[in-house]
Amino acid sequence: MPESEIGVVGLGTMGAMLTLNIADNGFRVSAYNRTHARITELMDAAGELARRIAPCKSVEALVQSLKRPRNVILMVPAGNVVDAQIDALQHLLDDDDMIIDMGNANFHDTRRRAQAAHEGGRPYLGVGISGGAEGARFGPSIMGGGPRNCWDRVAHILDAIAASHEGRPCAEWMGEDGAGHFVKTVHNGIEYADMQLIAEAYGVMRDGICMSAADCAEVFASWNEGILKSYLVEISGKVAAARDDSTGEPALDVILDRAGQKGTGRWTVIESQMLGAPVPVIEAAVGARNMSAMRDLRLLGASLYQPSAGRLDDGLAIQDLEQALIAGKILCYAQGFDLLYKASTEFGWSLPMPGIAEIWREGCIIRSAMLNDMAAALRESPGTNLALADHFRALMDKNIEGLRKTALAAQAARLPVPALAAALAYFDTLTCARTTANMLQAQRDYFGAHGFERIDAEGEHHGPWHGHDLDGKPAKT
Ligand code: 6PG
Repeated sequence: MPESEIGVVGLGTMGAMLTLNIADNGFRVSAYNRTHARITELMDAAGELARRIAPCKSVEALVQSLKRPRNVILMVPAGNVVDAQIDALQHLLDDDDMIIDMGNANFHDTRRRAQAAHEGGRPYLGVGISGGAEGARFGPSIMGGGPRNCWDRVAHILDAIAASHEGRPCAEWMGEDGAGHFVKTVHNGIEYADMQLIAEAYGVMRDGICMSAADCAEVFASWNEGILKSYLVEISGKVAAARDDSTGEPALDVILDRAGQKGTGRWTVIESQMLGAPVPVIEAAVGARNMSAMRDLRLLGASLYQPSAGRLDDGLAIQDLEQALIAGKILCYAQGFDLLYKASTEFGWSLPMPGIAEIWREGCIIRSAMLNDMAAALRESPGTNLALADHFRALMDKNIEGLRKTALAAQAARLPVPALAAALAYFDTLTCARTTANMLQAQRDYFGAHGFERIDAEGEHHGPWHGHDLDGKPAKT
């Protein structure tokens, strides 16, 4: 068999789909998995693509089957498994052979691995991919990180397997070391927020307006024809319309309200805190997943307090709800892109801000029509807060009252809408010229002599409260 262009180690769903995608685009690809049954399953599923896939019984065999310099994709679970696999491969690879981690790695791990590879003089890429199993098979969005020459070496393969938008591949080099995995992490944070906002809109329809799942499906389908057109709104309509095989009930009605998570949303929130780049809608979404998991506690709470009214007293127009989602979505993307911009400076990456919005237009889970306008706004000013950019300011003007009405009506009826409420609070803070942080500064100065700035004079000042002398002893007052 001729040598393969590239190898894939790890044939879980994503690895298997990626292998088929690579073969489908005309490249010879070697494939290895620790559990051999997965290789057999892949070859069975490959059909006529099997002629371009070399199944390997060991990592050694995979390494030997590759064209030099070798390129090996890792599609193994993030964390220690990646380190173990890198260790195992390193003994078999030559100095110019490249490892490409395409899992959902924490970007700190990628930075560490990239640094080790750099010190050892070996090429290494950390690449985020999005689009779920279908994306991996037919075209994901691809976010690359590592030395530019390493990216260029495999760009022809990654461009070919990526989704495309108007003929342009949704694959791009984001910057050095962990840049690709960082961008993928923020993508997932936005994904959590986008999903939570949609779930809250569904909750308002289900409990506040007493709509059936089928009615909600119609609303989602109609929203998908407008500004909200996106993969997540589309699939929300589809899942709301689906019926459970065994009971015939709407599928949504038989699904337990306890959400899973693998941690990328949490990483986004952690990094935002470290960078001082607030992402409250994403935080609310991660918090909501955590609250959903505390089902026993929620059941206890529901039994101890008066049940919530749920139903909205004065109803709510579906149009208000649509506006709430439009405004919420703009605000959560504004937060995500702000975080990316701050991280870009902090980690010295020069992230391609409009380029990120561009490669998210197709292939990935958060693909949506709105990203086109976001790309345009970021092209004009890469560091802009999207909610303040002209195009989105006009949209916010039109839709903010729908968000306000929805959040207030839901809260009055005790319907939990943490992400919508966080979006509203973010907007109100972002547009507030004088917040109440002067009180915080006064409190800090009172108990800790931390000092504050004045509105009418330069420098650091202390207040007239004499809470403490500067040596820390309580003052005699
Ligand atoms: C993607 C997704 C994917 C993610 C799953 C599950 O972009 O294709 O973000 O990478 O792993 O959606 O994530 P959670 O289990 O954390 O919801």
